[in-house]
Amino acid sequence: MPKILIADDQVDVLAALRLLLKGEHYDIVTASSPAGVLKIVESQDLDLVLMDLNYARDTTSGNEGLDLLPRIHAIDATLPVIVMTAWGSVNVAVEAMRRGARDFIQKPWDNARLLTIMRTQLELAQALRRGQRLEAENLTLRDDGASARLPQIVAESPSMKSVLNVVQRIGPADANVLITGENGTGKEVIARSLHAVSSRSGKPLVSVNAGALAESLFESELFGHVRGAFTDAKTDRVGRFELADGGTLFLDEISNVPLNLQAKLLRVLETGEFERVGSSKTRRVSVRVLSATNADLKNDVAEGKFRQDLMFRLNTVEIHLPALRERREDIAPLADHFLRQHSERYRRGRMEFTAQAIEALRQHSWPGNVRELDHIIERAVLMSSTNTVTAMDLALQNTPAAQVSARLEEMSLEDAECLLIKKALARFEGNANRAAEALGLSRSALYRRLQKYGLS
Ligand SMILES: Nc1ncnc2c1ncn2[C@@H]1O[C@H](COP(=O)(O)OP(=O)(O)OP(=O)(O)O)[C@@H](O)[C@H]1O
Ligand SMILES: [Mg+2]
Repeated sequence: MPKILIADDQVDVLAALRLLLKGEHYDIVTASSPAGVLKIVESQDLDLVLMDLNYARDTTSGNEGLDLLPRIHAIDATLPVIVMTAWGSVNVAVEAMRRGARDFIQKPWDNARLLTIMRTQLELAQALRRGQRLEAENLTLRDDGASARLPQIVAESPSMKSVLNVVQRIGPADANVLITGENGTGKEVIARSLHAVSSRSGKPLVSVNAGALAESLFESELFGHVRGAFTDAKTDRVGRFELADGGTLFLDEISNVPLNLQAKLLRVLETGEFERVGSSKTRRVSVRVLSATNADLKNDVAEGKFRQDLMFRLNTVEIHLPALRERREDIAPLADHFLRQHSERYRRGRMEFTAQAIEALRQHSWPGNVRELDHIIERAVLMSSTNTVTAMDLALQNTPAAQVSARLEEMSLEDAECLLIKKALARFEGNANRAAEALGLSRSALYRRLQKYGLS
């Protein structure tokens, strides 16, 4: 069982993480201060550290945690550390990566993403220990895509069926594909499928998220660098293009590629040639490029933010994923798919929706598309106390107020109280402090009620 240290100075964060990781078969230890972290790293055999960067109350500087990173690695040089940063503090996250963190996640975190990041880091660490290719060091930022497994795609609507049709037809060709669509419509899923059905499927699918990288790191991330190329370049580093050689490179959020790098990207797309940062030696690779964006690239081109020639290279074929509200036939089958997945993950046995729950799902507008649906179902699985997911468990924000109050009038006082508590917890993603505050209860009063209603 992998042993994981989670560190945060807020007890409710530790509690939420424990709850999340309960189903994962990890051995969990916790610390609430930098000193506590070091003590545990020193005395125990750990496989992974997940730690917050802020330990002084009311700061978001992250300095306390940043200083910890080298000290942890002085004790155990290969221990993977994932850091949690305050929302929007991308610079802190990047600084943490520079100081040796393997990955980062922003608070409030996305459960599925956090679990993926943790699993990826544990697998990489295992591979390293088994003495496999040291290049695994390079597979840090976001390589949950490095498998050729065909992802399970739910597609009942005519528009998604035709997307799958295109994937089957053009997947095997080596054409570059630009995948467009709103956030959460499944662009990455489609990229994986394209790779999986291609002749390159035996080789890696390497992902780069242009939106998650600081501009200064981007070039080295794509092309690698040689030792001494810049201050922090302590060793040679292989870039994503080289890692993807023979396989597929997935450039996510392509519209974020800085203009000055677009020319270099164009060159490698046209000739397969590039240089590592700080080196004059030209290297050559064979890489198929898939890219994705939720922006309107043509508009970016018109505004001079994106090179037209690069766009034409990227969108040899364009696949557009419709928003979920434009393919409502997919909602119920997707909901079933996620319910099965999450009830399994949280070991809840067989679960099902009430008819009203399905209806509420069908009515919702899904601004966050399939990802939002995924999250709502996951939260409902966590929140429901029985094996039936009701419309209330879904706690959809756009449930008309009138509908709720009509129901309230038919409820007992206790049922209404229980409902309000569930809703507050859902609204604050399980954060008991904030839920208590919103309900006008003390923490202990809230806990008494949680116990009473079996809502642990
Ligand atoms: N048709 C589908 N069938 C099953 N799962 C899906 C489908 N489409 C999307 N998903 C799931 O929904 C989530 C979001 O999908 P994905 O990450 O591919 O979206 P995206 O378009 O890349 O989002 P973003 O623009 O936010 O990066 C993932 O968990 C994915 O597995
Ligand atoms: Mg994506």
